[in-house]
Amino acid sequence: MDRRTFLKVASTATAATALGVKTHALEIPLRAPAAPVAANDQIQLALIGAGIQGQGDTRTAVQVPGVKLVAVADCYDGRLDHSKELWGNDIFITRDYKEILTRKEVDAVIIGTPDHWHKQIAVDAMKAGKDVYCEKPMIHAHAEGPDMIEAARTTNRILQVGSQRVSSIIYVKAKELLASGAIGQLNMVNAHWDRNSAMGAWNYTVPLDASPETCDWDRFLGSAPKIPFNAEHFFQWRKWKAYGTGVAGDLFVHLFSGTHFITGSNGPTRAMATGGLRFWKDGRDANDVLLGLFDYREGFNLALRVNFVDGGEESEGLVFTGSEGTMEIGYNYVSVSRTPLEKDPGLMIGTYSEAMQKRIRDAHREKYPQQHPSGPPAAQYEKYVAPEGYRDSYDHFTNFFASVRSRQPVVEDAVFGYRAAGAALLSNLSIERGAVVKWDPDAMKLAS
Ligand SMILES: NC(=O)c1ccc[n+]([C@@H]2O[C@H](COP(=O)([O-])OP(=O)(O)OC[C@H]3O[C@@H](n4cnc5c(N)ncnc54)[C@H](O)[C@@H]3O)[C@@H](O)[C@H]2O)c1
Repeated sequence: MDRRTFLKVASTATAATALGVKTHALEIPLRAPAAPVAANDQIQLALIGAGIQGQGDTRTAVQVPGVKLVAVADCYDGRLDHSKELWGNDIFITRDYKEILTRKEVDAVIIGTPDHWHKQIAVDAMKAGKDVYCEKPMIHAHAEGPDMIEAARTTNRILQVGSQRVSSIIYVKAKELLASGAIGQLNMVNAHWDRNSAMGAWNYTVPLDASPETCDWDRFLGSAPKIPFNAEHFFQWRKWKAYGTGVAGDLFVHLFSGTHFITGSNGPTRAMATGGLRFWKDGRDANDVLLGLFDYREGFNLALRVNFVDGGEESEGLVFTGSEGTMEIGYNYVSVSRTPLEKDPGLMIGTYSEAMQKRIRDAHREKYPQQHPSGPPAAQYEKYVAPEGYRDSYDHFTNFFASVRSRQPVVEDAVFGYRAAGAALLSNLSIERGAVVKWDPDAMKLAS
């Protein structure tokens, strides 16, 4: 333990004691993986859908050694212009993603379009021989999952889904802790993602020049119902089910990816969700409050919550509860808290006669000799913290590009992606039907 760690440990222990809680606390820094070595060959990358996430993804992707951005497709001219500002005038730009797929120099594509385009572009790209990094949620509707899995299989292309937490050193540590029995037998996972702002509720800024001239409206709509140009639909598409997958596909999916990665589960067998549009009644048809309950055969239940009007701090996190403790995941840490169950079951005898109380007490003490004369043992608390500035998306792209080179499986393939997104979308189905929805997590099919 270095001096800094020791000081942290000491201060945590003191703080806990000041609150009157007996705790043995330990804060342990996690180590980021070594940076990948520069490769001799270069992977030529294209971005399809150069919006908020597409640009963010690409900024990260090109930091991985041996990766170069060569082309960008987007339906809004302003984002094509900004792509040139970011990555140079010599990149190829187009409104039509198919023009990217015919370019021989492109090895791999990032798909950062709205959800309703993921499947079509991913399948087209794989058929054109490109490897794909497809943003989450992998699908817009359940029927699309098998098509994407099949396309990845038959074309033998690499497909990585973009729930980057699956590559996080925090989640890797959490998986290891659970497997080592750190919290005993898992019985429940509670996760939430609460927000309290206009941006958090998807009201992204519409550029001042948004018009049918600067936006390729028909191409944006794709398979969605044809309606006249609407800048809000174009730039705030998450608010409408025609393009997005609601809170479930946007945020629950991350919580499913995390839970499935950590537990190794294929997914839930039953889902029940409820919620509503409580605050952001601005013409959207997607809910801003969502609660979901899910049964897992492995013997635990998952409870998820998203609230876009939480009246306070924005926060996200997961808590895994087991027979011997709890494990909590926050934005840059995983912690384990253990208070072992007392072997002595205790007594509830105050209503019996004095004589009977004495007899029971004597017998009890004989059966359970006093273990801790100075009081119950202190709770154990360990916190594993990611280094400052750690970015799981960098590790997720490193994993993707390593697979592009080695042709070995990625950490989040189409099957994993469908199991996470398919599970998340059960929430929307449950609300639509007003009923519990059954799912076969192995066959990845809705069950009757
Ligand atoms: N992994 C994460 O943490 C994370 C975070 C945010 C968003 N996302 C995902 O990324 C995707 C994009 O989200 P965003 O917030 O960047 O949206 P955005 O609206 O900012 O960007 C989407 C872009 O796609 C373009 N587009 C639409 N149809 C297209 C088509 N047919 N061809 C080419 N371009 C097209 C639009 O013009 C727009 O610029 C979503 O699926 C979202 O769920 C993932």
